[in-house]
Amino acid sequence: MNMPVVLISEEEIQSRVLELAGQISADYDANDELVLVGVLKGSFIFLADLSRRLTIPRTIEFIAVSSYGSGSRSTGAVRLVMDVRGNIEGKHVLIVEDIVDTGHTLKYLIGMLESHRPASVRTCALVRKAESAEVDVKVDYLGFDIGNEWVVGYGLDYAEQNRTLPYIGVVSPDD
Ligand code: IMP
Ligand code: MG
Repeated sequence: MNMPVVLISEEEIQSRVLELAGQISADYDANDELVLVGVLKGSFIFLADLSRRLTIPRTIEFIAVSSYGSGSRSTGAVRLVMDVRGNIEGKHVLIVEDIVDTGHTLKYLIGMLESHRPASVRTCALVRKAESAEVDVKVDYLGFDIGNEWVVGYGLDYAEQNRTLPYIGVVSPDD
């Protein structure tokens, strides 16, 4: 497999993560019980960096989903594989996603987490494929908009490869 071509460099990612953490830290009150809900597996590196840059108290939960159907596009039917462990009722939830493509996954997650009766639900995604949206879903904190291309690195994979690259790069599926 050829090396991915750099789309967003490590330096760009790190400075954007710092900006997002500043924004989030300013938007929430220090007395709010903020719970960061990372979506496995893709968000694990973003969540690790973002959470350590926040200057307000926060706890961490994880959730896992999978899309029905084969292929790389999600079909719209999203299935919960692992729910949050802790009680999030009355707390402020911030969903931390790696990438928003069609938007089906994030939309499902918002509804799912709202059923736990939290005080609020907001969304944060490192990357969004703006042209790929099939459903309208609000990303409150967004790192970067990109075109409709498959990206890897910084948590993102193609067939489980390249998740731990420090940058976000483009691969062509034929590589
Ligand atoms: P959506 O439901 O179409 O928005 O799909 C979102 C999920 O698809 C993300 O959480 C990723 O797991 C996966 N995904 C979509 N595009 C990419 C990509 O370019 N690289 C890696 N994973 C992706
Ligand atoms: Mg994901």
